[in-house]
This record gives sequence, C-alpha cells and structure tokens, in this order.
Amino acid sequence: MNEDDFSQHLLAWFDSYGRKDLPWQQNPTLYRIWISEIMLQQTQVATVIPYYQRFIKRFPDLPALACASVDEVLGLWTGLGYYARARRLHQAARIVWETHEGKLPTTLEALMELPGIGRSTGGAMLALALDQRHPILDGNVKRVLIRQEAIEHWPGQPKVEKQLWQRATTLLPQTRLADYTQAIMDLGATVCTRYRPRCPSCPVKETCQAHLQANPEAYPQPRPR
Ligand code: ADE
Repeated sequence: MNEDDFSQHLLAWFDSYGRKDLPWQQNPTLYRIWISEIMLQQTQVATVIPYYQRFIKRFPDLPALACASVDEVLGLWTGLGYYARARRLHQAARIVWETHEGKLPTTLEALMELPGIGRSTGGAMLALALDQRHPILDGNVKRVLIRQEAIEHWPGQPKVEKQLWQRATTLLPQTRLADYTQAIMDLGATVCTRYRPRCPSCPVKETCQAHLQANPEAYPQPRPR
C-alpha cells in the first residue's frame, strides 16, 4: 500500500464525514484533550459528552483539578465506571502541579511517566492538541490496520503489536496530524466496526486486504485457545 494514499484518502473522508463538533474539539488544549482521552478509553463518545462537560465546568484547568480532593473527582466520575481512571487522572494532575509548574509536558516520554498515560493516549494527546507527529494504536485503530494488511496472527502477541506500531508510524502524514488522528479513530469506531463493517463507505477499501478477500469480519483473529 502507498502510505501517502492511505492518509490522503482518510483526510478527504474526514473533511466530509469526520466529527468536528465534539466539546473537546472546541479549544483543544492539552489539558482538555487529556481529560477527554481518559474518559474515552473505555467509554463511547455519546456517554462521555455530558460527563466531560460537567467535569470541565468544575475543573477548567490543571490547577483546579490538582487542588481538588480525590473524592470530589470521583463524584464527578460516578456512572462512567473504571474508577481507577479518575484516581490516576487526579494523581497525575498533582504530579504535574508539583513537578512541572502546573503545565502538562509536551513530549511523549514525559507524558508517559504520568499515571494513566500510555503510548497511545500520550500520542493521541500530542497529535490532537499540538499536531505533533505520533502514532496511536487503540483497539479501533488496531482493527483498521489489521484489516488493511490482513494480518493473520492474534494481535495480543508482542511481535504483532510491534508490527502494528511500525505500520501506524509509517502511515502518518507529514501535516494535519490532529485531523488524521481523529479520522482513523472515527473510521474504526463508525465504519470499520468489529461486526458488519460498512465497507462500501470506507475511504481506504481499495487498499484493504481483508476487504479484497471479501471477509473483513475474519480479522482480527480471536485469541488462540
Ligand atoms: N476514542 C478515544 N479517543 C477518541 C476520540 N478522540 N474520538 C472518538 N473516539 C475516541
């Protein structure tokens, strides 16, 4: 596959169909994108929106979050689930407050030292907020890449995971990293779904090996047992 075609097709699709009205996309600071990405880790966009709005109203910036009690943070999280996310968010805010003068760091290495921020979340933050060139690899993006290449192996294997990170890196465009990152996440969430993917609507179906085999649902392979 031509790497440039992949990102250009995805960006053209984003211009027509991508979401550009989500609350964290208005004034996308590193802090606001961070909160949204943590909430979106295990929860769908529609569920996250009202929680995000209440959270940002109460904690509009990092100092507000760092100075709050963990109980108040957990209170605003009630109903979202996976409460360890909220605890780590609060811990990370305190660390940034104490060691980075209240400003979230702007390198992937420094972000990944904070509780709750892994390589994919850190990359998403820097790409979405600052247009930095980092790949992401959440569950939705993995599925898109596995189908593009018709990767036969179970993606839980470290060797396969490494291959996917490499592919995610080579596919990155040189510009418009925020739009590209949102586009590939939206594609995985709305078109390249686990079941019954909407291949006729897909901007990268011409290069998709699973689609060419007429069997996208066969990918990714389930965990071997
Ligand atoms: N899942 C994780 N991050 C997301 C985002 N920014 N938009 C949609 N779904 C997501």
